[in-house]
Amino acid sequence: MSMKILLDKVGVAGIETLPVYRAHGGYSAVEKVLKMAPADVVEEVKKSGLRGRGGAGFPTGMKWSFIDKKSGRPRYLVVNADESEPGTFKDRYLMEKMPHLLIEGIVASSYALEANLSFIYVRGEFRWIIAILEKAIAEAKEAGLVGKNIMGSGYNLEIVVQTGAGAYICGEETALIESLEGKRGNPRLKPPFPAVSGLYGNPTVVNNVESIAAVPWIVNNSGESYAKIGTPKSAGTKLISACGNINYPGVYEIELGLPVEEFIFSPSYCGGIKDGKRLKAVVAGGSSVPILPAGLILKTANGEPRLMSYESLSDGGFLTGTMLGSGGFIVYDEDQCIVRNTWNFTRFYHHESCGQCSPCREGTGWMERILHNIEYGHGKLSDIDLLWDVQRKIEGNTICPLGDAAAWPVAAAIRHFRDEFEWHVREPKECLVRNYGLPEATVATV
Ligand SMILES: Cc1cc2nc3c(=O)[nH]c(=O)nc-3n(C[C@H](O)[C@H](O)[C@H](O)COP(=O)(O)O)c2cc1C
Ligand code: SF4
Repeated sequence: MSMKILLDKVGVAGIETLPVYRAHGGYSAVEKVLKMAPADVVEEVKKSGLRGRGGAGFPTGMKWSFIDKKSGRPRYLVVNADESEPGTFKDRYLMEKMPHLLIEGIVASSYALEANLSFIYVRGEFRWIIAILEKAIAEAKEAGLVGKNIMGSGYNLEIVVQTGAGAYICGEETALIESLEGKRGNPRLKPPFPAVSGLYGNPTVVNNVESIAAVPWIVNNSGESYAKIGTPKSAGTKLISACGNINYPGVYEIELGLPVEEFIFSPSYCGGIKDGKRLKAVVAGGSSVPILPAGLILKTANGEPRLMSYESLSDGGFLTGTMLGSGGFIVYDEDQCIVRNTWNFTRFYHHESCGQCSPCREGTGWMERILHNIEYGHGKLSDIDLLWDVQRKIEGNTICPLGDAAAWPVAAAIRHFRDEFEWHVREPKECLVRNYGLPEATVATV
């Protein structure tokens, strides 16, 4: 289970430069697609079973096939490189180490979509990545791999790098489109979906960096070959950014279907829990997905080994399962406080809510305040039920999924760690001393 198709050449000296990238077979997918009909490229990606790596796991080929080509309006590919989800840092790594893989993927994908203008929307804080991407685009343009008449084929493509301004919500595809248009990044109501009416009202595909970076391999080796990697419902490899109380934090490319236990404990991946402590819980797919206690992340409720795949991680629904999400894998040891962690996540969602819908705007603030009270020793037992009630009223009642993303971690924390919330209420001093190392005398003043 150590197949690598995205990061296999990381470590090759100079792979971020065009000559070295080309010497290692780079841009062969562009050469190949230019001789194919665009519809055949879409078909190949459909056959691959590739699912979007931005979080929702929507099939990429199917998304591409929704794009309206009949209207004659311009079509756009927008690569989502906003990557602001806490715990997720794999796109940053991919762009830093393999910029030409992304550019190659963009050219091949844009050709399939018959788009002549594509964008990379990059998180504003990634200053150095923006420079890397712009250098790679300039090199590719100079070599006739981007721009007018690519490789003499008559196909034209310009790639524009656009910087975000630090708002997490601009990673949501319709907020991203608004931001690209120069407006405030407020999510749009869907439908219409971007494939019908996206950037400037034109058909637009928004895809994650990793999804687009997988396209060259699929073109070179066939969709069928890609579909053979991983599991039937989770084809291919996935980048996982692993962090928290583990021995080897970092970005790993895994073949989907790897047992979670192996990922956490094998020296080839996370290398086990730091300082010989016990595993307490895992957030498997970025801060938005439900947290699971050790027992349920290692095994499903049926006692099957839990696998790193869309279907296995979600086995049991939210009662006993979670989601693969964006691949931001956060590991907590026995000393970590679930209340504090949930409060921290909720602070983030409250801060990042765009404020358009009341359940999200008000609810995230309510949750933050209740959690603050519990965490700082001013909570009541009834606050736990109130918290549950507030998150229920957010989920499913908002314009965009940020509302759900704020509600799910709170629901899961209460579902699996209610005793810890109660303990905070009953023994606030113990929690404060444990979490903040505060001597008892100062506790009352916090
Ligand atoms: C609040 C919020 C933030 C998001 N941030 C990102 C992001 O940083 N990168 C990303 O690829 N997708 C993000 N998404 C998902 C995008 O809306 C979209 O589904 C994704 O870019 C589609 O690409 P894919 O099909 O290749 O996964 C976010 C969604 C929400 C609701
Ligand atoms: S759910 Fe939150 S972030 Fe999304 S549109 Fe509504 S208020 Fe804005």
